[in-house]
Amino acid sequence: MFDKATLIEALAVLVAVVAGGLAWRRFHPLSFWLCVGFPARAVWLYATWQHVASACKLTHKRRRWRVTLDSVPVLGAASREATAIVERRHLRRVEIEKAPRLGLIRPSQHGWRLPIRLNDGQIPDDFAKVAERLAHAWRAHAVRVLDSKPGKVVLIATRKDPLVTVPPVDPTPDDLLTVRPGVLENGRPWVIDFKTVPHWLFAGATQSGKSTLLNAIIRGLAPQPVALVGFDLKGGVELTPYVVRMSALATTRSACVRLLDGLVSELTHRMADCREHGVRNVWRLPEELRPIPIVAVVDEVAELFLIADKAEKEEVAKTSVALLRIAQLGRAFGVYLIVCGQRIGSDLGPGVTALRSQLSGRVCHRVNDPETAAMTLGDMDPAALEAARAIPAETPGVAIVAGSDGSWHRARSALTTEADAEAAARANRHLTTPWAHLVRTGPRALPDDQAA
Ligand SMILES: Nc1ncnc2c1ncn2[C@@H]1O[C@H](COP(=O)(O)OP(=O)(O)O)[C@@H](O)[C@H]1O
Ligand SMILES: [Mg+2]
Repeated sequence: MFDKATLIEALAVLVAVVAGGLAWRRFHPLSFWLCVGFPARAVWLYATWQHVASACKLTHKRRRWRVTLDSVPVLGAASREATAIVERRHLRRVEIEKAPRLGLIRPSQHGWRLPIRLNDGQIPDDFAKVAERLAHAWRAHAVRVLDSKPGKVVLIATRKDPLVTVPPVDPTPDDLLTVRPGVLENGRPWVIDFKTVPHWLFAGATQSGKSTLLNAIIRGLAPQPVALVGFDLKGGVELTPYVVRMSALATTRSACVRLLDGLVSELTHRMADCREHGVRNVWRLPEELRPIPIVAVVDEVAELFLIADKAEKEEVAKTSVALLRIAQLGRAFGVYLIVCGQRIGSDLGPGVTALRSQLSGRVCHRVNDPETAAMTLGDMDPAALEAARAIPAETPGVAIVAGSDGSWHRARSALTTEADAEAAARANRHLTTPWAHLVRTGPRALPDDQAA
């Protein structure tokens, strides 16, 4: 039928097309996805939706009038045998399964967005519960539910974990007290803005990526007009490399108490300044009076609360009270906290739960037990807890990030080594405010007290 030359030619064309496709996918995966992968996926997804929705129990049973064709045997006049078969139309009530209606699917860099109209009686949570099933059915890495308008949900699917490789990010945007330590799962930069969320809790097991995140933050803050203060009771091993950019670093318990006393005293002075000028926070003070913002980093908070003997009990109590005061007053008066730890639970001592409730920004890396994830993320969306428990050990630095508004993201810090952060600290050592200039000690009468 075909001669040999035509066959060889056809084979050569096929090989060239496949090789070209593979090369395209390899060297420009994004355009390949948009032009080839996504359209194919979209057609398949619409074609299989009824079946997938039914398997995920997202369909509703409905009774509908339907015209059906029935085969009716026609009996001969004299015999009992059917002599012919005729088809008759019948109007019948039949039960059908109605899948929620799909909207227009749209591609994104890492997957797709699909709006869906809810069936009567459905809520977005019905979709959240089966998100993992949907992800498997669609061969996606993950499916997340975005609650959009009443009666509608938007599902966001990601093809593969976008956090396996994190592209380099510029750690310091132009805004004061804002850093970009990594990327979010949706491909956007992960932004930490201390002005909106002043205090942060970074939780995670050892080797989960806490120190790397801290490095990224120190690298981001180092070039800014911000004072850094450190508390590191693990002998200073974590924070000493950055000491040139720190106004103070406490590595013993008594030094911690002194430093915290200094910070609380400075807070009192800032409070008095604000009262004198009739303003609510330091940002509204006249520029020449506006104090430098302070970011205090506590590495391994459990060490601060550990009581070895009776003598330490009083120091621990003082520490706890001072930290709580800083957390309560810091937002208005420009002192921000980052507290790192494997877990920060009430078992550490009284005052810890109150402190935790003031740390409104939460970052939960891989943790050892589900309770720690729940403790860190609080009463968030159960899907956030599930995502925290599912962080694999092979991707240190991946974390669930929760802001104070209840939204959450999967994110990963950019790999920032101690050497990177140390280099940034050295390069910006001229910005370090000496401790003696940073805090004002001694009593300060508040305006009301003077009047009294
Ligand atoms: N964001 C990241 N990307 C890639 N590797 C990371 C990341 N974060 C941490 N790691 C790796 O994991 C190791 C342990 O991280 P580290 O920050 O020291 O954990 P922790 O302080 O929680 O014990 C690091 O040495 C680094 O190799
Ligand atoms: Mg560490």
